Amino acid sequence: MAQRADGYTTDVDYPAFFYKEMTPVWLACVARLQGFDAPDVARPFRYGELGCGVGTNLLVAAACHPQAAFVGVDANERHLRVARDAAQAAGLRNVAFVHSGFVAFAASRPAPFDFLATHGVWSWIAPQHRAGLLACVQAQLAPGGLFYLHYMCHPGSTDLQELQQVLNLFAPHVPGDSARQLQMGLKLLRQLAERGMFADRPGVLRHLQVLETKNPNHLAHEFLTDHWQPQHGVDVHRQVGALGLDYLGSADVFNNLDVALSIPGQLQAVLRQTQIPALAETLKDMARRSHQRMDLFQRAARPLGQEAHAAQLGATVFQALPGAPASGPVAFRTPIGPVEVPQALGNALLQRLAAGPASFAELAQLPAFAGQPGALVQVLQLMLMQELVHPALAPAGNGQSLTQWFARNGIALRVLQDSGTAVRTGAAQHERNSHAH
Ligand SMILES: C[S@@+](CC[C@H](N)C(=O)[O-])C[C@H]1O[C@@H](n2cnc3c(N)ncnc32)[C@H](O)[C@@H]1O
Repeated sequence: MAQRADGYTTDVDYPAFFYKEMTPVWLACVARLQGFDAPDVARPFRYGELGCGVGTNLLVAAACHPQAAFVGVDANERHLRVARDAAQAAGLRNVAFVHSGFVAFAASRPAPFDFLATHGVWSWIAPQHRAGLLACVQAQLAPGGLFYLHYMCHPGSTDLQELQQVLNLFAPHVPGDSARQLQMGLKLLRQLAERGMFADRPGVLRHLQVLETKNPNHLAHEFLTDHWQPQHGVDVHRQVGALGLDYLGSADVFNNLDVALSIPGQLQAVLRQTQIPALAETLKDMARRSHQRMDLFQRAARPLGQEAHAAQLGATVFQALPGAPASGPVAFRTPIGPVEVPQALGNALLQRLAAGPASFAELAQLPAFAGQPGALVQVLQLMLMQELVHPALAPAGNGQSLTQWFARNGIALRVLQDSGTAVRTGAAQHERNSHAH
């Protein structure tokens, strides 16, 4: 039987997903690339995930940072059982999974966190739980701490609203569990499509086609909830800003690229001239047809002065990820179409990293980048985004047992402890996070 708690799906289990954009090493690197002080991930720190599901992100991070403490909070005990089993099998003692709603967790006063993160939660839960999530950030994020918030946004997700409305209204009338309700709902939508319902909205049809390829358990969490709601980034920024947090940029580094690389050609000049920050941010989402955002905030932002920025970013070490080519040219698939890195820049960076890890300061000395550290930042961000390059981590952890647990449980992920991340294995290798959550 299908079940919901305050409108959120509880009877079928959410699958395991990993997001490179949520790891501590990635978040600290993005903050530095954006010019802000960030927690040092080589030292002890505390990281909390709100709505951690089966805990995949936390498990990877815990395996890579044995000196740090990780806490996952979720209201679904079955999800946490999977996470705890994995932690035990992989011998991870630095991660705890707490069965709690956000409102109760906000009141529980754990030690402050240097990182708080939430993915696939904000756009799906009832207003009182969103308030609880913000209360956790308010009560528990340390000064200078980083907050990662993922949500569905306009205008890329606007077209999904009518599909979600049909799925949500139809579900209670279908016997069986939420996955079956979802499948029957998709069949109904397909019948409507065949009878011309979305004939004038090709965007809706494209969404439907994509949904028909997805795991029904995943979609049951995504679309059967009563409170699903895409939002405008600037509205979310206002709410988070009211807690004393500042927006640093996107953990999806594509969005931090210069407009020359991340906005379609004819719109670039308009964007450059837009003086109103909230309007500029909205226009960027419109130009990119963004469907989700991965926002990075800092409590009482700590912008780095020029010297401190040069020192902190300069000391950040980058390395090639497995499978990165040893030379260019490198064409990147981006949300606005293919972008090609100038061959001299791509080659210089890839060749240097093929020889081993290098700090930003060393890379900036390469003749191709001489006198243009800004170009290095842009190329690095493109390569980070494409999973060719990653910030490096002095290896302290051991991801082998967790990688083995993933393999035993059909999760195609390999932990890279010297990068503080995981990469997809086998057939999943070339598939970027194409799902909506
Ligand atoms: C879509 S899953 C996302 C899991 C994981 N963050 C990911 O992205 O793979 C959302 C999770 O939030 C949890 N959740 C929903 N509402 C909650 C609430 N009010 N308090 C705590 N957890 C909640 C659900 O149980 C579920 O595990």
